[in-house]
Amino acid sequence: MGEKIVENLLEQAYNCQKNGQYEKSIELFLKIGENKIYYEKAIMEIAKNYKMSNNPVKAIDYFIELVKYNNNNQEAIKELSQTACLSKNYDKAEQTLKELFDKTKQNIFLIELIKIFFDKNDIEQAEKYILMSESIDKENVELKILNARLKKNQGYLTKSIEILQQLLNLCDNKDDIFVELADIYSLKGEYEKAIEYFEKIADKKRDKFLYLKLIELYCLTNQQEKSEETAKKALSCVPNDKFSQDSMLNEIEIIQKKIVLKSKMKRLWVTVTSRCNIRCKTCGLWKNQWDLPYKTAKEVMENYPYMERLVWLGGEVFLYKHFEEMFDEACKWNNLKQQIITNGYVLNEKWMNKIIKAENTELTFSIDGVTKEVYEEIRQGSNFERVISNVRYIFNLKKSLGIKKDIRMNSVIMKTNYKQIYDLLELAHNEGFNQLSLMALHFDSAPNENIFYGESRDQEALNFVYKAIPVLKERAKQYNIELDVLLPCGDESFEEVVAKQDNMEIKKEEETKQEENKVEIEKEIKEIKENQTEEPKDLIVPINRVCCKMPWNYMMICDDGNVLLTGSCVKRIGNIYENSINEIWNSSVAQEYRKLMIEKKFPDDMCRTECTGRW
Ligand SMILES: C[S@@+](CC[C@H](N)C(=O)[O-])C[C@H]1O[C@@H](n2cnc3c(N)ncnc32)[C@H](O)[C@@H]1O
Ligand code: SF4
Repeated sequence: MGEKIVENLLEQAYNCQKNGQYEKSIELFLKIGENKIYYEKAIMEIAKNYKMSNNPVKAIDYFIELVKYNNNNQEAIKELSQTACLSKNYDKAEQTLKELFDKTKQNIFLIELIKIFFDKNDIEQAEKYILMSESIDKENVELKILNARLKKNQGYLTKSIEILQQLLNLCDNKDDIFVELADIYSLKGEYEKAIEYFEKIADKKRDKFLYLKLIELYCLTNQQEKSEETAKKALSCVPNDKFSQDSMLNEIEIIQKKIVLKSKMKRLWVTVTSRCNIRCKTCGLWKNQWDLPYKTAKEVMENYPYMERLVWLGGEVFLYKHFEEMFDEACKWNNLKQQIITNGYVLNEKWMNKIIKAENTELTFSIDGVTKEVYEEIRQGSNFERVISNVRYIFNLKKSLGIKKDIRMNSVIMKTNYKQIYDLLELAHNEGFNQLSLMALHFDSAPNENIFYGESRDQEALNFVYKAIPVLKERAKQYNIELDVLLPCGDESFEEVVAKQDNMEIKKEEETKQEENKVEIEKEIKEIKENQTEEPKDLIVPINRVCCKMPWNYMMICDDGNVLLTGSCVKRIGNIYENSINEIWNSSVAQEYRKLMIEKKFPDDMCRTECTGRW
């Protein structure tokens, strides 16, 4: 490709990026990258495009490609850890940085790893890596700032301020130091001082997180006008599309504790039909013949540009006559992630092709048994062989098209199938699933099947299940399967329950090794700490925030038209036959929920006690 052509393509690619046409920009940079001279630049811009278009997973993949290609690309190394932290997708970035440190012994990899540990709130690892990094270069300024952050996290605020003040006199670039100082003063409850430091830097960096902190501090110090002014600035530094603007506005409205919202709901659970082609013994939905009115389907579609998540609820969603239209329309919005849960029986080739090719769609198969007898005893009217054959079809399709997609298996654990709990993981592994959820029964429709609650609670079955969980967790790791155990086991961990049952500590060889490692690290840290003078810890003043954010971004449409905020909320906020979903979003009950979350109240007639949303 000639120089002139590349220059032309570069101009087009940057223009597309500037105008928010990220897909087109990526396409052009892919072409540009074919020219070896421009490869590095192109990969960097592709990663940035993915980052800006809210696709951090892909962005991380490209940043990794880049840092592996050139270990000295500092911008890519920093972007990698920053993107991992912003999106909470740590694993791949952490692994890559560790590998590259082992290979090169360069401090920059440790420093970026430390940032990831802080973001994960893994202070122990952060401390360990700070010590390692200090042994390479104690004078590194970035490392000193991280050390101050460590002190802050350990509650030594005054000590941390001391370190940072010293650095202020030494460094030309004071930006990161101002940010840390501002953060510490806000932890101390000295909001005016915190504002002073954030103000020094926010306009210069035009960083939405700094603006959000300032908005919060202005609200806490009753400076409403400044809070609104800063909100405008925050909105001006995110892309000018409906999704980015509305998401930012939503965050601002939560911080400002607004009760009537201009921002829209971000996450919707929508029942499109209660009809089903089979009759599971755990589920009563199939007894109804309810369909979402088309008027509401259209309202839902009008909200797509603003939404980040759409969970399709049924029944079998494929039986809803407008499902294809709703699904196809949702596929047009990259920011909108959809989740389909299916019994897998009704799926046909057309749908399997559509789903596997839809980048924004996650798929879950519900499979509650590994033998025909047990499976069909629970999922009455289904056919085990046909479901497995559909599962195989879709995995083959995925492979032949070279598509990377997580496909999940859901299993509800109950009396009829609990003895197959080990085999459910084996089935997931053999068929190629990379995620498995083990769930408890939550409806009252099958009281005789419930081993966890109610009259049918079965201690023998529980012992069996509790014993299985730690073993399954280990096996899942070996199989590279993400195992979500959504089973109740009281306040203890499954491991503790099992240890009690056996009246002994479970310590497998590997765990013992991990324990020894931990002791070794703790010993090292203790020795270093003994050489340091123990400072008094400072008092941390908790910031007064809403105690559950769900009423600001969730909504759920049920199979009678009633609308809840979430499945854990008791009182309906409206009904689709009476109002539009946008009206319901700001209904009097929705507002009542928001007020309660600001006042940190959870009355029984509003919130289920088992709800995990509160913090
Ligand atoms: C109601 S179904 C609807 C989607 C689809 N028809 C299916 O079976 O996957 C959604 C999920 O709820 C699970 N489920 C059914 N009855 C349940 C119950 N009583 N308690 C908990 N989960 C249940 C199903 O196994 C499925 O994974
Ligand atoms: S397939 Fe799903 S919706 Fe149908 S009866 Fe079973 S659990 Fe209920």
